[in-house]
Amino acid sequence: MADKENWAVAITVFLTSLLVGQADIITEAPVGQLFVYELHREVFQREFEPFHTVYEHIYNDPLVFKCNKERFPDLPRWLRFTQRDPYDNGFLYGTPLPEDQGRNIIQIFVTNRRSYVDVIKERLVINVGPAVKQMPYQAEFFLELRDIEKVLPSVVQEDIKSDIKKLWDTEKLEFVNITSALDRGGRVPLPLAGYFEGVYVKLGSDKPFSECMLRTLTPEHERKCAAGGKMPGECNTCFYPINCITWCKTVLFDLSKPIPPARVPTVGSGILEWGGEFNPPDSPPERDFFPDYIITIIIPFVIAVILCLILAYVMCCRREGVVKRNTTTPDVQLYHHHTIQGNFNELRRMAGRDRSTADRPPIFSLSLASDTLI
Ligand SMILES: *[C@@H]1O[C@H](CO)[C@@H](O)[C@H](O)[C@H]1NC(C)=O
Repeated sequence: MADKENWAVAITVFLTSLLVGQADIITEAPVGQLFVYELHREVFQREFEPFHTVYEHIYNDPLVFKCNKERFPDLPRWLRFTQRDPYDNGFLYGTPLPEDQGRNIIQIFVTNRRSYVDVIKERLVINVGPAVKQMPYQAEFFLELRDIEKVLPSVVQEDIKSDIKKLWDTEKLEFVNITSALDRGGRVPLPLAGYFEGVYVKLGSDKPFSECMLRTLTPEHERKCAAGGKMPGECNTCFYPINCITWCKTVLFDLSKPIPPARVPTVGSGILEWGGEFNPPDSPPERDFFPDYIITIIIPFVIAVILCLILAYVMCCRREGVVKRNTTTPDVQLYHHHTIQGNFNELRRMAGRDRSTADRPPIFSLSLASDTLI
């Protein structure tokens, strides 16, 4: 009886683990707001053997993620993926647009670079819903001392947001977009400490821009920036120097005013005006192609024939010939040459399959061999 119960428990555990293993991760993403999903390495590490609970040793394998939309080779247009290093977490991030609404099923393949054998597959379902927040005021800032992966973790996002909240003088602030400067034509930084790719962050709010931010629209600001100006001290709100914005690259987007509709084209009567009778152009004058023919075909052909004749004369009539060469070569040299050739042929015969045709070795070497044997 107890045995049966044990079996039942084991099977249930097995089935649930199967089900849990296959379950999708489901997330939501509203239109117009930044979506970030962090792929935590330690979560996937637990699914690779040897399970650390058994061995009481926590492995730290290099894991590589590969993401694509289900049944497609790539990710949806609005979603991007980044992972700096197999020892770093991966990030799926992007901003869905109204036309991206719906279910996005993302396949995530995790390869263990230690064993190269294990691959786990995971499904992430992103439900893109309608916009929940109206953000008519948006601003883009440039963080010079940052790399994209270092900005995407939520802790860092909060740090950046709290700086901008002070600058904007509002609490209602949301990320709209985060982009690496590399995606906007930036240069790949040198792989040294102190060099960063740079990151653009775009935030939005329903509160109008602050005094400080409006200063970026003045002609005075432009003049100062052209002269390599710095951020005015009273507007500098960054808590960590690494999160400081590049003041002169700040861009404001005021979407609160309705965009004037494009000018409607005027509709005509639908009938083309009479433009007179069609006059076909005259055919071009006759041209004599014979000189061109001589220059491009005949002359090269004649030169080729002459070269052929010279070559044929050199090859056929100017050769020395074997007999002539042998008569001018000393006899000793010829003899040497023939013995070398003979030995060479014999070696070749011996190396071949038919050894019986090879000449027997001289007798004296045989007797020498038997002496040493005795
Ligand atoms: C976010 O930034 C990327 C890269 O610059 C751009 O392609 C995309 O259109 C932006 N999305 C929004 C909603 O601004």
